[in-house]
Formats: sequence, C-alpha cells, structure tokens
Amino acid sequence: MSVYSSLGGDSSSLWTFILFSALLVWTPVQVIPTSRDGTGSLSRSPEVFISQLGEVVVIGSNLPIIAAPGDDVILPCHLAPMFDVQGLTVEWSKPDLKPDPSDRLSRVEYVHLYRDRKEVPDMKMASYFRRTELFMDDMKHGNISLKILNVSEEDNGRYRCFIPKLQSRVKAAVVELVVGEKICFGDVCGSKLKFLLTIYDSYVFFVSFRPKLRENLIDRDTTASQKRPNSRS
Ligand SMILES: *[C@@H]1O[C@H](CO)[C@@H](O)[C@H](O)[C@H]1NC(C)=O
Ligand SMILES: *[C@@H]1O[C@H](CO)[C@@H](O)[C@H](O)[C@H]1NC(C)=O
Repeated sequence: MSVYSSLGGDSSSLWTFILFSALLVWTPVQVIPTSRDGTGSLSRSPEVFISQLGEVVVIGSNLPIIAAPGDDVILPCHLAPMFDVQGLTVEWSKPDLKPDPSDRLSRVEYVHLYRDRKEVPDMKMASYFRRTELFMDDMKHGNISLKILNVSEEDNGRYRCFIPKLQSRVKAAVVELVVGEKICFGDVCGSKLKFLLTIYDSYVFFVSFRPKLRENLIDRDTTASQKRPNSRS
C-alpha cells in the first residue's frame, strides 16, 4: 500500500512501473551511462570542450565505474584529439592513498606504471600485482584505459591517469571505482548498486514519459471494457 501511494496512487502507473522495471532487469545493465539523458551526450561533452581548448587533453569519466567483487573492470581514460602515447610514460595511481608511514622512503607507488614502452612492475602496489593491464594496441590512438582484474572492495576509490610529459594544461584525469555488494537473479549476477541505479533510471525515464503512457493505457482500458460485454455474450 505504501509503494502504491508513493507512486501517486494511480494503479496503471504502478503496473507500468513494475513491468518496466522487470523488463530492465532482463536487459543487460550496461544501459546506465547513456540512459541518464538518453543520448549519451554526457560522455561526449568533454570532447566538445577540448576542441575549443585547442590542445591534447586527458579525459577520464565523470560517471563512476560500478562493479561487484570478482568483476574485471575497465577504468576509461584517453587523450583527445587522438594522440600516440606509446613512447610516453603513463602513470595510474590512487591519489587519495596516504604513503605508508612504516615505509621510511615513503616511495610513490603505482597501480600501474608504463615507461619505455613496457610495464614497470617493481614500482607497483603489491595488491595490484598481476591484476592490471593497459590496452597496448590501442595506446597509439591515445587510449590509456586500465583494466583491473578480479576487483574487491579494497580497490574502491579514485584513480588517476597521468601523462607527466604531455605538453598540455590537462595531463591527468580521475576515474572513480565503486565496488559494492553483489546481487543475483538465478544465474545472472551483478552489482547491486548498478541494479538499483538501473531501476532508478528507468523510473525517472518512465516518469518523464508518463503522460503519454497513461494516455495509451486509458485508450487500451476503454477498448478492453468495450470488448468485454461482447465476449461474455
Ligand atoms: C579503450 O579501449 C578499451 C578496451 O578495448 C575500450 O573498452 C574503450 O572503449 C576504449 N576507449 C576509447 C576512448 O576508445
Ligand atoms: C579474486 O580475489 C579474491 C580476493 O579478493 C581471491 O580470493 C580469489 O582467489 C581471486 N580470484 C581469482 C580468479 O584470482
């Protein structure tokens, strides 16, 4: 009853909402980044911005990457306009991580360090050992996205991709990773937060289309009630 009234006390909208949510559960959860505004322009807007800036810049993601424990994730980061970074140093780090006070040298440790056209594993945080990779073939196109395998909640937080030698005012970008609880529907498992966001997005989507849907439903209702007496006789 409380769900019913919070949805506006309109049974047709309640049922459409339930139906819509159910449909979205079966649709792969990837719809989130584009469904916010329906056009995906959110992810494209930085490009528009940088073309006005007139130099190569590093772009991360303004939406967090959401995953469940055990997932493999890609933290997106790229240069625009396209720029070959194969010969440059690429650093991935966690900017919010405090240096270990027991380590007297308090060295900077990386999640992933690429230098002289290869990974440098000895300057890497132990917890990311053998779990990160760059897309080497795509680096000539300026793609410095980082893949992290088998994430856990300890991987939560902000990540920074940084090209120290880039001749630009924007040499770094930040991407946030959110690893949360897992939820399963039969064999299909995924991040619970991602699922809830999908439901939320579908609700927002539904509310913005509600007047139209309701019109259609009322149309169908009247047609159905007109038919009913016929089918009984
Ligand atoms: C970078 O490469 C990854 C892996 O192939 C891909 O998922 C991502 O979309 C690429 N990013 C860009 C900006 O091309
Ligand atoms: C994934 O990580 C967990 C710990 O976070 C570990 O117990 C498990 O063995 C790892 N799985 C694989 C396939 O490496």
